[in-house]
Amino acid sequence: MTAPDDQQSWHGVAVEEIEEIDKVVSARLRARSGRLLWSLLRPHRWWSLVALAFVAVENGAQLAGPLLIATAIDSGVTGVLAGRPATLAWCVLGYAGCGLLSASAKYGFVRLSGRIGQDLLLDIRQRVFRHVQRLSVSFHESYTSGKVISRLTTDIESIADLMDMGLDGLFSALVTVVGVAVTMLVLDLRLALVVLAGFLPLVLLTRWFRRRSHRAYRATTSAVARVIVQFVETMNGIRAVQAFRREHRNAAIMRVVNRDYRNANLAALEVMARYTAAVRLVGNVSMAIVLAWGALRVAGGDLRLGVLAAFALYLRRFYDPLDDLAMLFNSYSAAIAALEKLSGVLEEEPAVAEPAHPVSPPTAGARGEIRFSGVEFRYRPDTPVVLPEFDLLIPAGQTVAVVGATGAGKSTLAKLIARFYDPSRGQVLLDGVDLRRVADADLRAAVSMVTQENFLFSGSVADNIALGRPSATRAEIESAAAEVGAHEFIVALPDGYDTDVRKRGGRLSAGQRQLVAFARALLADPTVLVLDEATSSLDVPTERAVQAALETVLAERTALIIAHRLSTVLIADRVLVVEGGRIVEDAAPADLVGGAGRFADLHRAWLASLA
Ligand SMILES: Nc1ncnc2c1ncn2[C@@H]1O[C@H](COP(=O)(O)OP(=O)(O)OP(=O)(O)O)[C@@H](O)[C@H]1O
Ligand SMILES: [Mg+2]
Repeated sequence: MTAPDDQQSWHGVAVEEIEEIDKVVSARLRARSGRLLWSLLRPHRWWSLVALAFVAVENGAQLAGPLLIATAIDSGVTGVLAGRPATLAWCVLGYAGCGLLSASAKYGFVRLSGRIGQDLLLDIRQRVFRHVQRLSVSFHESYTSGKVISRLTTDIESIADLMDMGLDGLFSALVTVVGVAVTMLVLDLRLALVVLAGFLPLVLLTRWFRRRSHRAYRATTSAVARVIVQFVETMNGIRAVQAFRREHRNAAIMRVVNRDYRNANLAALEVMARYTAAVRLVGNVSMAIVLAWGALRVAGGDLRLGVLAAFALYLRRFYDPLDDLAMLFNSYSAAIAALEKLSGVLEEEPAVAEPAHPVSPPTAGARGEIRFSGVEFRYRPDTPVVLPEFDLLIPAGQTVAVVGATGAGKSTLAKLIARFYDPSRGQVLLDGVDLRRVADADLRAAVSMVTQENFLFSGSVADNIALGRPSATRAEIESAAAEVGAHEFIVALPDGYDTDVRKRGGRLSAGQRQLVAFARALLADPTVLVLDEATSSLDVPTERAVQAALETVLAERTALIIAHRLSTVLIADRVLVVEGGRIVEDAAPADLVGGAGRFADLHRAWLASLA
């Protein structure tokens, strides 16, 4: 690659083109975040208007201050000298009254806007969580849990920051700037025009600042997300990290992303520093000009002293909120960047969508027949085919064992039955109904899958078994546990079935977790049971016991069992040997054992290993 033409091009793409693309993308992002923001604000729109009214009252009352002071200086003092103190008295009373009004309005605003803000945050947190939870497995494979966490924490936090301090500042600044400008124009046109001339550089500065700070904030939210991702990944894999001494490597990666985050923040702060300084400079220059010219005019009798005093006071009011505006734009930019990311997640559709008009599964006749019809599968459009086109019929009630080398595609087959993914081509049918047309609740009731993961949720052992059927009684839970041979170890736990699985000392071993998962699946009483290496963590005696239980349990349902241990396979009615995503052998275990195919080889190797 040649050296970049000093930012005239980037990888051969002209700067104008990049800016053009940036514009289109930004417009789409803005529209998307706008939609999200409006949907969040809609329920609160009337109260938001009330809050705005509070801000207007608060600032209006504040603005009256300098005007009253000007009147006090110009008319009040002379009035007192002439023996008519009423004007001064009214000015003083008015000033106090305005202070009171402004304070009450401020109180009302902070309470109301706080309420609206918190409701809104509650709403978006709930929405993001619910939505992300609903998204398909394929989404979570590419969008890591770290990214999800940073959506739910830092992104929502930056919206909260804007709610807390931003809105007040923004409305106040708007009301103040407009109010001050109008009042000054009325007080003295020429002096006001001088002040307003300072507005032009301010507008330009603010436009520059908005663009730059927005870009800087997008960079910081991406950077902090990378920090969180790295953090979460390390902590999730802490055992592997320590076992393989990966601490140094992880610390090095962390150092890089952490430093990037700091640099992104520094860049954002630099933009803010320049803006604040420039605003202050413009403000002070304006003040100097007003003082010089105003004082000369007062001396010449062309301007009243009170008006000059009011101008000086207004100018402070005019530039103070602009100072805050820089902070405000920062939190605004951070919030917009966060909204862009959140709206992106919220508009993500589940790849495996629940049908709009589900077909209810037939209630009579064969239950649990699985048919693959012309199915081809790849995990993503840009990855190779994992299962080339095939047909397969598993009649209701049949127990099918699937064997094959690592990476052959066994789990993929199983995941298609449980509809973690939809086939890229063809259909998977349950009792003649395409899985894409079955309601999620019906599908989960019909198909249970037990894998090696055996995730346990926080809660008691009984809760974890009852996951299969939340309405189950304690007796049913215990009998399910007894059926898979889990009862003995559970009653030996400190609190038996009520032992908290996450509590120290109450943790379960891999094999115990597997038994709990088994009991959970049996309690669910599905028509189709899929076991993916589900017995692999059990010791030999326990596995034998589970197998004995399995044989009775499997008799009434369709089952797909994936197992490396051939002893498990021998209880099946039928064995499928998978190789490179294709079913290369399909017969009863007895036939395969005696034959000359791959299964026979596997079986001989297994017998040899036992000897
Ligand atoms: N989530 C995924 N995204 C992309 N490719 C995947 C994914 N899961 C599996 N694969 C690929 O699909 C192929 C089949 O994987 P699968 O998990 O079905 O194998 P398996 O037969 O279950 O192997 P094992 O016996 O090791 O469990 C492999 O080449 C694997 O790399
Ligand atoms: Mg597998």
